[in-house]
Amino acid sequence: MLNLKTIRWCGDATGSLILIDQTLLPLEFREVECANGDVEKVWEAIRSLRVRGAPAIGIAAAYGVCLGVQNVLEADEETFFAKFYEVAEYLASSRPTAVNLFWALDRMKKTAEDFRLVMKLTHSFHPREAANRLLMEAQRIHDEDRAICRAIGDFGAELIPDGAGVLTHCNAGGLATADYGTALGVIFSAVAEGKKIHVYADETRPLLQGARLTSWELMQREIPVTLICDSMAALVMREGKVQACVVGADRIASNGDVANKIGTYMVAALAHLHGIPFYVAAPESTFDLSLESGDSIPIEERGAEEIICGFGKQTAPTGVRVYNPAFDVTPAKFVSAIITEKGIISPVTKENIRQILEK
Ligand code: MRU
Repeated sequence: MLNLKTIRWCGDATGSLILIDQTLLPLEFREVECANGDVEKVWEAIRSLRVRGAPAIGIAAAYGVCLGVQNVLEADEETFFAKFYEVAEYLASSRPTAVNLFWALDRMKKTAEDFRLVMKLTHSFHPREAANRLLMEAQRIHDEDRAICRAIGDFGAELIPDGAGVLTHCNAGGLATADYGTALGVIFSAVAEGKKIHVYADETRPLLQGARLTSWELMQREIPVTLICDSMAALVMREGKVQACVVGADRIASNGDVANKIGTYMVAALAHLHGIPFYVAAPESTFDLSLESGDSIPIEERGAEEIICGFGKQTAPTGVRVYNPAFDVTPAKFVSAIITEKGIISPVTKENIRQILEK
């Protein structure tokens, strides 16, 4: 059984952050180490998708904050907190769409502010103690994710019929979280219950998270998987090979509109057309209830080279104009259910979202 450790922290508050370099998978399994206060390396790892997937980005950023304060462990209160806020703001600029990044940084800020208040009352300040508290909070975020993904998996498994073909897009597995995954967590739990599942993994142009990561994870766990080009999803559905679609999410608005990897909207529309249920699996931390609808979700645009020259081979004329949004928004009306750690939201309405999340 695959024992993934997508993200690890080694040592105490002066320790280091170790990430699987996902850009090298599946050909090479190598980890990158970020140490000695090198928060730029964490920023770069998030920006260039060495670590990716909404929950994993949040966990990495929380540890990134711990790394970022390592150079002020002997400083006074003013200097320590100035550095803390600078680092948090810097990490928040790494990627715009997955709200888990900002959610995790907000938790780190709350921890820092609570600690500062307590220190004020006792008229003392110990930067190492502050750094320890921050590390504890990052570890809590990390540990919680393990439990949350298993709860999502267990709730979601009941929606997947025995013998089903399940189509997924991008990678919402262990590599996108602490170790288990959201959408793939649903599949892992269904398989653990004894159901026979066959997964159709969209390759997910342009960065091929489905081809490189999802098919790798499923093969590691010996779950049957067939890789298809994104453009084959309609045919595979029409051929009756797919009984359910399950994907993850990067941000969910209060009305249930879902931002996820580019191409997800197309899968949802096709599922709707073919009468196939389309499920989104995501933790509470992926909801952004401050947004009325998906229209205001910021969508990351990435460089043209990812499309013109993906993985080292030029496949389009030099200088061609390119549009490369990394995410799209699926309207709530196409989402049959959202599977959270608190239960299943269906039908997807503002009221049902509030009701389940308030549990
Ligand atoms: O650009 P990426 O690889 O970070 O995009 C990831 C996705 O879109 C995932 O589906 C999403 O973050 C959910 S991960 C549990």
